[in-house]
Amino acid sequence: MSGAGQGVPLDGRVAVVTGASSGIGAAVARALADAGAPVVVAARRAERLASLVAEIGERGGRASACATDVTVRAEVEALIQHAQSEFGGVEILVNNAGVMPLSPLAAARVDDWERMVDVNVKGVLFGIGAALPVMLREGRGHIVNVGSVAGRRPFPGGTVYAATKFALRALSAGLQLELSAEAGIRVTDIQPGVVDTELADHIPDPEQRAAFQGRWSEKRALRAEDVAAAVLHAVTAPAHVNINEILIRPTDQPT
Ligand SMILES: NC(=O)c1ccc[n+]([C@@H]2O[C@H](COP(=O)([O-])OP(=O)(O)OC[C@H]3O[C@@H](n4cnc5c(N)ncnc54)[C@H](OP(=O)(O)O)[C@@H]3O)[C@@H](O)[C@H]2O)c1
Repeated sequence: MSGAGQGVPLDGRVAVVTGASSGIGAAVARALADAGAPVVVAARRAERLASLVAEIGERGGRASACATDVTVRAEVEALIQHAQSEFGGVEILVNNAGVMPLSPLAAARVDDWERMVDVNVKGVLFGIGAALPVMLREGRGHIVNVGSVAGRRPFPGGTVYAATKFALRALSAGLQLELSAEAGIRVTDIQPGVVDTELADHIPDPEQRAAFQGRWSEKRALRAEDVAAAVLHAVTAPAHVNINEILIRPTDQPT
């Protein structure tokens, strides 16, 4: 029973975090690096990644940047290669990159729907497809998918976004079913409620953006660090513990 109930240190456990140039991804990268994991940070904005790598280095951690567009399969494969050549493998993959260009279905903003499917679903699939062979070879791994409370319940204007996050729940459940007992690979679907990040700044429709931001101007949203703490909790659990889902909402968001 030794070690039961104690966290497993992340020393030497290589992590890859997508969407690490801001918000939740950057906070997760800091938290994992602080816990001893060498971290590869990925996103499109390379300058942001470079400052995060420098910051993690100043805090005594190890990090490396890999500019990646998760919608491009070859770039995601190169990201996993990068983790192997820089740090010798990949044990923790945090599929966090995501976009939320909200709009009512009636507006038929099909380009935005396509972008959400490309980043939020296909980007995650590309990550899994690239990392799984490495994890299977090593006989261990932990895939963390950043879903959303919207993956449990759609909201007006967020139907397609919710559909992408429902997809992540199905994917996480199926991964766990196929691979946890069979291959020792753990899977966690983190489902945050509203988090104070840049996500809503990119809502293209000004009315939808103002409505979303207005609803939260007087309330306390989660901070990215709150979600990072949940990710850390899952990945530092002992090897026999698979934390499948974490639903984490602001106190001011009851549903
Ligand atoms: N904020 C919330 O209220 C909330 C709630 C529930 C779930 N989430 C989820 O949390 C995750 C992180 O979002 P956030 O709130 O931290 O928002 P954010 O600050 O806007 O971060 C989104 C990240 O995704 C990256 N990204 C977007 N498109 C990409 C692409 N094609 N390739 C690679 N990276 C891409 C962005 O980096 P680049 O632009 O540099 O590529 C950025 O680093 C998302 O999956 C989101 O759905 C957020």
